[in-house]
Amino acid sequence: MLQEMSKDDLTSRENELGNQFNAACQAGLKLDMTRGKPSPEQLDLANPMLSLPGDGVFTDSDGVDCRNYGGIDGLPQMKALFADILGCEPQDVIVSGNSSLTMMYDAVARAVLFGVPGGEKPWSQQGTVRFLCPAPGYDRHFEITSHLGFELLNVELTDEGPDMDRVEVLASDHAVKGIWCVPRYSNPTGITYTDEVARRLATMNAAPDFRIFWDNAYAEHHLTEEQQPVPDILQACRDAGHPDRVLMFTSTSKITMAGAGVSAMAASPNNIDDTRRHLSVQTIGPDKLNQLRHLNFFKNIEGLRAHMARIGKILKPKFDLVNELLEHNLGGKGIATWSQPKGGYFVNVNAPDDCARTIIDMAEKAGVKLTPAGAPFAYGLDPQNRVIRLAPSFPPLSDIRQAMEIFTLCVELAAIRKALN
Ligand SMILES: Cc1ncc(COP(=O)(O)O)c(C=O)c1O
Repeated sequence: MLQEMSKDDLTSRENELGNQFNAACQAGLKLDMTRGKPSPEQLDLANPMLSLPGDGVFTDSDGVDCRNYGGIDGLPQMKALFADILGCEPQDVIVSGNSSLTMMYDAVARAVLFGVPGGEKPWSQQGTVRFLCPAPGYDRHFEITSHLGFELLNVELTDEGPDMDRVEVLASDHAVKGIWCVPRYSNPTGITYTDEVARRLATMNAAPDFRIFWDNAYAEHHLTEEQQPVPDILQACRDAGHPDRVLMFTSTSKITMAGAGVSAMAASPNNIDDTRRHLSVQTIGPDKLNQLRHLNFFKNIEGLRAHMARIGKILKPKFDLVNELLEHNLGGKGIATWSQPKGGYFVNVNAPDDCARTIIDMAEKAGVKLTPAGAPFAYGLDPQNRVIRLAPSFPPLSDIRQAMEIFTLCVELAAIRKALN
């Protein structure tokens, strides 16, 4: 344990690690642990899609000509597939283009411009408006709301979901219009929301035009047999008498091809009707051929889940290696804690307070690129300067091994230097 080391021991360990660090800096490595995206091997599994739906195949099972305009909210079978993913009914679903992030941006932008069902005015006509950002969270969520003019409020993300005592207090201010949620295998801490958190989100006192942005991006992305159940937030909101409170999102970006997947949202009839009304001005219809391609590739939810099991087999050894090296190099030293996610794309490391920025800078000097310090927090500011997000999906195992040796070296060296100071 670092806390039990004498000053002499600390100094000699600092020398030893300092020499290793200098050697690593000379080695000229170029490693990248920032990219939360599928590896080429994962993408290869979806290659058969590139020849689908195939020459002369352009109708879905209902005879819809997918080459043409129309079908504003998606093919019926694609809605059914997303309903299985999101745990709702096909009529609750709108299927759109390749990016759920675009759908989320559009949903916030529409609410800013036009308001939402049950709201009196557009969000832009209500003075200062605020948004809750459970953190550590997904930086791009937070950027959408800061870009569109919201004041961001960090809320601690616990192992069960956002700190609901805090959320309930903040949401009672009706200038607070929404909250970002990644309910399963959250980015980056890997936690899954509990039923109790979902119930409290659904029942709490909040503005009538408050919306939960429930981004189930990792709905099908398990790393173990133990598939953590995700709360039924749509039903919880109905039960609480707030059926319009939640908008759910997902996509196949990290299921098939990250640049050429299909995205979807699901919500109450009021929200879906309102969204469809706006969409019909924005577009004459989505890319139905890509929806058909996905349907022909998967056939049904069982086909999709079998595909995800194959992806899990590629990802699991990478997550295991990250954990093994963290445990081997930092375990029992009282320096850092880290997540051991059961799904999703990230490992979250809590370094000693005030050290994350230093560690990330050191790693960069030694050739390892890490996600910028503070990225998982509103405005990019980690109040304790300790959270570091690792993304093991893209690099090969050999790169992960080298990168983690350097990363753990930087963590220990920074911790020892802090202790010596
Ligand atoms: C939580 C979360 N939501 C959404 C996305 C992006 O989804 P899409 O590719 O469908 O826009 C990501 C990508 O990393 C993510 O982590």
